[in-house]
Amino acid sequence: MKQVRIAELQPGMVLDLPMYSPWGQKLLDAGVKLTQSHIATLRRANTSEIFMARCPQELEEAGMLRRVDRRSLKAGQRSDLRLVNGTGQVLVEPGEEIEEHHIEAMAVDQRVYGEDRATGTDDLTRRRNYPGRLKLTNPRDMVVELERSLPLSARRAPAHAHPMEMRKESIASPWPDRQGLVAFRQGHIWAVRRLYARIEAGRCVPIECLGAIVDELLDVLGEFPRRFCQLGIRFRHEHDHLPDHAFAAAVLAMAAARQMNWDEQSIRAVGLAALTMDLGMLRVPRRIHHGGTELDTMDIRRIHEHPLESIEMLQQVLTVPPIVKLAVYQHHEREDASGYPMKRHTESICDLARLLAVADAFTAMTERRSHREARQPYAAMREILDGATRGEYWKPAIKAMIQAAGLFPVGSRVRLSDGRAASVVAANAQRIDKPVVEIKREDPDAEPVLIDLSDPDHHQVSVAEALN
Ligand SMILES: [Fe+2]
Repeated sequence: MKQVRIAELQPGMVLDLPMYSPWGQKLLDAGVKLTQSHIATLRRANTSEIFMARCPQELEEAGMLRRVDRRSLKAGQRSDLRLVNGTGQVLVEPGEEIEEHHIEAMAVDQRVYGEDRATGTDDLTRRRNYPGRLKLTNPRDMVVELERSLPLSARRAPAHAHPMEMRKESIASPWPDRQGLVAFRQGHIWAVRRLYARIEAGRCVPIECLGAIVDELLDVLGEFPRRFCQLGIRFRHEHDHLPDHAFAAAVLAMAAARQMNWDEQSIRAVGLAALTMDLGMLRVPRRIHHGGTELDTMDIRRIHEHPLESIEMLQQVLTVPPIVKLAVYQHHEREDASGYPMKRHTESICDLARLLAVADAFTAMTERRSHREARQPYAAMREILDGATRGEYWKPAIKAMIQAAGLFPVGSRVRLSDGRAASVVAANAQRIDKPVVEIKREDPDAEPVLIDLSDPDHHQVSVAEALN
């Protein structure tokens, strides 16, 4: 290990070892040629030295860091130390809460280090402003190149050869019962969660791991197009909701993409993008992204940087199609340039991101947060429509989502014109106001009654109102 004074660094120097901060954060890889910008960023940091080492363990051996017993760290506990993993990635900033996903990442990479020196302050605000996440690599250049070089329109399936030509789905199809549905959903969400833990721990993940989840969803979408959205609606998780959210948004985005007649490759890509778009949120403390607390400008900046952080973390997923990276980066852009991170306008946003924006916003509204209840799907859909009227969202994407999930989206509670209360369980793309509903019987052990309101036999019954 070598200790180097920042004042001695010169542009053009090529690193023979990776560069680390005194707190064990990996700043640059070996082989990188230093630029003026790197050196300027280092000079702004709250330190005068950096370290050239093979891994944080060498800093530990030199007495700079100390190994932390990960079993002493508990979710919900506030960390006094800046915690980094064995690959030099910052997991928790000093003063921030240790979250469940940190514990899961620490279980993958069992080496956890903390600074072996005081940061010199007990003041939380000053600690948070300490440049723990010194950024010397900037994936934004790569994204700008993607924006310049990739076609922004999603590919449509050929008119006569749709790869997922759907047979008319019968309501009597063997759709899983409630328990089967929960098991399917939870199994896949756990798979997403395990992948997040590996990525956060600094491990590489083959794209096939995520691709397998998307492929299974594609199979279900092909077989049960009208009920498919049930997989993505009505999540009630409050803590560590990121994997749940990603899965639900993937379901909705894929269903809407199918309605827009995108080809299979594009539907697959939007599913992959939905599963990975918020990876960067793992680096944002939950108190910031979960809402309900007042945010300062630094907190807001961290939220606005999460698409870029997601792109950076996606470098560990081998090998992500370029259009997926671009969609991840742009998923918070809005049609009227009111989004972030680049305030791109309609014509500069790829179709995948424009669709993700709708699915992501709708999913977030139907999820419960610590400071608010989940919105009913119908109310969320109305809010998205209001957003489209203001020019924020892509109207064809909303139309496709309504066709896929219904005007009274799957998961809604409704009152029928005959006075009965019912739950919407499937959509009808041709008659968006006539979904399939489920009515519970008085005997709680009896199978509920399913009514397809688009069936001529039930023409006298309609949805009278959405229930709260
Ligand atoms: Fe996001």
